[in-house]
Amino acid sequence: MFQKDLLKQKVVLVTGGGTGLGRSMAKRFAELGANLVLASRKVENLEAAAAEIRALGARALAVGCDVREPDQVDAMVAKAVAEFGRIDALVNNAAGNFLAKTEDLSPNAFNSVVRIVLHGSFHCTSAVGRHMIARGGGGNILNIVTTYAWTGSAFVVPSACAKAGVLAMTRSLAVEWARYRIRVNAIAPGPFPTEGAWQALMPDPSYEEMARLRIPAKRFGRHEELADLATYLLADGSDYMTGEVVTIDGGEWLMGGEFNGLTIFPPETIDQSFEAARKKRGK
Ligand code: COA
Repeated sequence: MFQKDLLKQKVVLVTGGGTGLGRSMAKRFAELGANLVLASRKVENLEAAAAEIRALGARALAVGCDVREPDQVDAMVAKAVAEFGRIDALVNNAAGNFLAKTEDLSPNAFNSVVRIVLHGSFHCTSAVGRHMIARGGGGNILNIVTTYAWTGSAFVVPSACAKAGVLAMTRSLAVEWARYRIRVNAIAPGPFPTEGAWQALMPDPSYEEMARLRIPAKRFGRHEELADLATYLLADGSDYMTGEVVTIDGGEWLMGGEFNGLTIFPPETIDQSFEAARKKRGK
């Protein structure tokens, strides 16, 4: 789909880059010539992902970092700049989510998702943005959101609120930081199978089948499809795009909020399957 050296010399930081879609995007960027900084809480995942990237001939730095903690984020950005001299692009991909009836959420449960998704994306954007502004070489920020950031969705209220905030940040900073030649865009993926998302959001096989059937394209996304869209948005050829959110979901969002369909089940059934999912994740 792209020239082999499309992202040559670019230094790209991917949060949540050790697993799932973050890892797939990072590998695709590396295939196209980028050097990578991978950040996440679980260093063991990061090292394995970094090794895969090095095997592709790119440089990779793995940094343990909890995006909820601004001091850790600042230290991670400083390490990346010390290693590569600069950061050209940030992909805010780290997220947390679970299915829950909103009336059952504790304040801490709400915070746990919002602090990763909204506060974490802000901390990374702020730290990398300050670096990009000081350096004066422009930059590119890509936020992974979701279509229910604007449709809303039952049973994922903390995530919907947090992602709506990230989308607002995307559009706000696209304007504010355009003078520094920093572009800020977002991608809203529909369901793409990953271990983390499936554990969190597909408590049993019947949910998975329901989720697949409600997608007009009748299939889930392929990681390479998302990675190629992210590549396009990071490449110099999309320089005139900023403040945009691009959906990649087989038409799913036009069917309504992603988990609204679960309201057909009685509350007891919902309780049972959410509880089973929670146990499976050890939470
Ligand atoms: N339903 C309801 N409440 C839940 C829950 C669930 N499935 N899972 C956690 N919580 C609540 C906990 O009870 C706790 O609240 P309390 O202190 O009032 O009891 C609060 O959320 C924090 O839980 P904890 O397990 O301590 O949070 P954490 O910071 O270790 O983990 C999560 C954060 C919950 C978002 C966790 O799922 C996570 O780390 N996710 C990252 C990966 C991920 O979610 N990937 C999928 C992305 S689609």
